[in-house]
Amino acid sequence: MDKILIRGGRRLVGEVTVGGAKNAVLPLMAASLLVDGWMTITNVPRLRDIDTFKVLLAHLGSEISGDDGNRTLRIRTRDVAVPEAPYELVKTMRAAVLVLGPLVARFKRARVSLPGGCAIGARPIDLHLKGLKAMGAEVEIEHGYVTVSAERLRGAKIYMDTVTVTGTENLMLAAVHADGTTILENAALEPEVVCLADALNAMGARITGAGTDTIKIEGVEKLHPIETRVIPDRIEAGTFMVAAAMTKGNVLIKDCPHEHLHALNLKLKEAGTEVIQEDGGVRVIGDIPIRSVDVKTLPYPGFPTDMQAQVMAMMAIASGLSVITETVFENRFMHVGELKRMGADITIDGRSAVVKGVRRLSGAPLMATDLRASASLILAGLVADGLTEVSRIYHLDRGYEKIEEKLMALGADIERVKSRETAARASKYAKAEA
Ligand code: EPZ
Repeated sequence: MDKILIRGGRRLVGEVTVGGAKNAVLPLMAASLLVDGWMTITNVPRLRDIDTFKVLLAHLGSEISGDDGNRTLRIRTRDVAVPEAPYELVKTMRAAVLVLGPLVARFKRARVSLPGGCAIGARPIDLHLKGLKAMGAEVEIEHGYVTVSAERLRGAKIYMDTVTVTGTENLMLAAVHADGTTILENAALEPEVVCLADALNAMGARITGAGTDTIKIEGVEKLHPIETRVIPDRIEAGTFMVAAAMTKGNVLIKDCPHEHLHALNLKLKEAGTEVIQEDGGVRVIGDIPIRSVDVKTLPYPGFPTDMQAQVMAMMAIASGLSVITETVFENRFMHVGELKRMGADITIDGRSAVVKGVRRLSGAPLMATDLRASASLILAGLVADGLTEVSRIYHLDRGYEKIEEKLMALGADIERVKSRETAARASKYAKAEA
């Protein structure tokens, strides 16, 4: 398995361009199941989760072609022989549950493996199923699979007990052909939800209220395929913003959706970082000591849970005490143990982590546990003394396209090596230290 080696201490300087948003592409790929024709999606990043979703669509019977180095995806689903998402695929990518809504809407039936838990929490899909039942679907759970069927879904008023991003997206996808109007209350406001609603409306759907907590979907008879461009990835952008701040760098992050990063911008400024809108992007200048700030994750537009691990790495070297509270997932502190192995001073107290900034972190061999925790370890390695070696970076590849190449281009001393080479490289670094 590949590993990433980093020798810390370099300032990041230069510019980097953000790719398309993983969490916007996946629901758009699910939406392609709704139409019998070529759906084109552009600005697609090359990520493992997207490859997994392609395998799932092909398994269902979709034809898929990639142009422009696979950054343009073309998908056509004329028919689906067996509307089933198998365990082997769903267990590696829980977003596979997004095929439920479109399969029931167009093919009247879907059988999808229950996603099961994951490193950051139980992550049930009970609210997805509650909404489908409210729309008149039969829902059965057995042998680890959920089967959903309906001759035709009917519009319903659905209150989402918990704000759920893919739950909102799944029910929007299900409701586009329903008989009547569906209203989703306490819906997710994330930009990725708006991106999906905009694409569905361009396909002929009638959706209003996306971006607010109440979304109305009026069922229509038919949709048509379109070409649509994916919005930039606000979490990739935020990760580079934190990297620039931590390394006391000066980085222009291009194609950065600053309007989607309001909460992070405020926290970075509170911590003393300069964040300036420039050239269709954001310039981050971090040349003064980092101040400790408290962070509480919340559904959008609150501080994003997907940026919590990255900001914790930054607070680990800030001057003072910060309290980081994770309200969205119940187990999203897997990065804490690894950061402590680098000398970070962090104490977990229930849903909060108390971080006491230290002068320097020290490089160490680390193990990634989930996507955003991996990013946090990379960021810590950028500022640590000596060599940091991050293993199990397949987690990282799910959501970041060639992050080591982008960081290297900004001046980081970082490389990806195959595991058999790691020992040799690590000893080279050890000799250099001597
Ligand atoms: C989406 O996951 C994102 N993934 C996640 O990004 C992100 O962390 C999360 O939203 C929150 O912003 C995609 O969009 C593909 P939720 P999702 O349903 O939709 C509970 C990343 O790093 N819940 O909004 O699965 C759930 O347990 C990934 O890119 C229920 O209780 O998250 C959680 O506590 C990680 N019942 C909370 O809601 C349900 O039926 C929010 O989960 C659904 C969710």
